[in-house]
Amino acid sequence: MADEQSKTGVLGHLPPLPRKPLNNSVIAMEQAYRQRKGLPVLTEAEMEALKAGVPMPWEAGGAGASAAPAAPSTAASAQPAAPATTSAVAVAEPPGGDSAGMTETVKGLLASYPKWNKSTVAAEQARRKRKGLPLLTDAEASALTGEAPAAATPPTAAVPVPAAAARPAVAARTAAVVAPAGPPPIARDGTAVRYVGTPAVGTSKAAAAGGVATAGPEDTDIDRVRRRFVWSSVVAFLGAWFIAFFRFFLPRTLFEPSTVFKIGAASDYALGIDEKWLQKYRIWVDRRPDRLFVIYARCTHLGCTPDWKPAEHKFKCPCHGSGYDDEGVNFEGPAPRPMDRAHIEVAPDGQILVDTSHLYQWPKGQPSQFNDPGAYLPV
Ligand code: FES
Repeated sequence: MADEQSKTGVLGHLPPLPRKPLNNSVIAMEQAYRQRKGLPVLTEAEMEALKAGVPMPWEAGGAGASAAPAAPSTAASAQPAAPATTSAVAVAEPPGGDSAGMTETVKGLLASYPKWNKSTVAAEQARRKRKGLPLLTDAEASALTGEAPAAATPPTAAVPVPAAAARPAVAARTAAVVAPAGPPPIARDGTAVRYVGTPAVGTSKAAAAGGVATAGPEDTDIDRVRRRFVWSSVVAFLGAWFIAFFRFFLPRTLFEPSTVFKIGAASDYALGIDEKWLQKYRIWVDRRPDRLFVIYARCTHLGCTPDWKPAEHKFKCPCHGSGYDDEGVNFEGPAPRPMDRAHIEVAPDGQILVDTSHLYQWPKGQPSQFNDPGAYLPV
């Protein structure tokens, strides 16, 4: 049904009845469709009626069903037989024909250039603003573009009619002045909003040039959440980037454990090898019947850490197989000398103080340092 009526230029692509109230997007698409097809565009009163869910008169089978699109010069005849809503639209009868309802300004402009559209009207408004001339009224602008005729005289009658009933033909520049039904939309800053053309072009340069306020995107909760999420992501990204940037200027320091530390009293250790400090300080505490010394757990071949094998009573290097007896003296493998021993002494508090930066060695073919003072503690 909708497609059939669109051929007559009445219903276009509007959804057929029963129909819910339409939103701005659907109405804007309808307007664009009508402009493409050369059909009469919807008036503001009709758009308001569609938003309110009020059927068009031709849909209800009223008298205006056939008269609205085909009445180029007699807009008054396109009125419906009976009002169906409470929306009031002011309709003024022109005193004469097309040219009789136009102001001198409109006549002059039409004489100078017959094919006016929204862009050229906006350009004219801008020119008038620059020159300090009086701006065109909405009625004059509508008369120029052919959407609605401008009245040379004030309206002589105002009767309540359905919002959808006021339907001027495109080609008719008669004297019907159409006012939108209901209060105008309100922008976020509180100013009344009037769309230029379809709502979709409400933010165009033409609107700005015409001095018309426009409505921006809706400021809904979901929009606020989205904006907050985007800004949080941006701030987090920039924060991480700046941290990485400043970290570049800091020194890369490797903190190693101190080489001087305490390992408790000599009486804490039983005879034999104690591995309690191997992981933390890389040492074994070796207690003999007459002395206590500390073996530094580093193979003298290439520096691997040997394993203590209690069952075999020896140290075994996992890298190349060097073997050491229970005092750290090499006896097999490629190790050239016994493992080194750390300096030890008794601290004032009675604990054993170890210093791994001071080592005692027994180089091959040279005297041993293992009996030097500090290489062991007598017990
Ligand atoms: S590093 Fe220990 S045997 Fe080679």
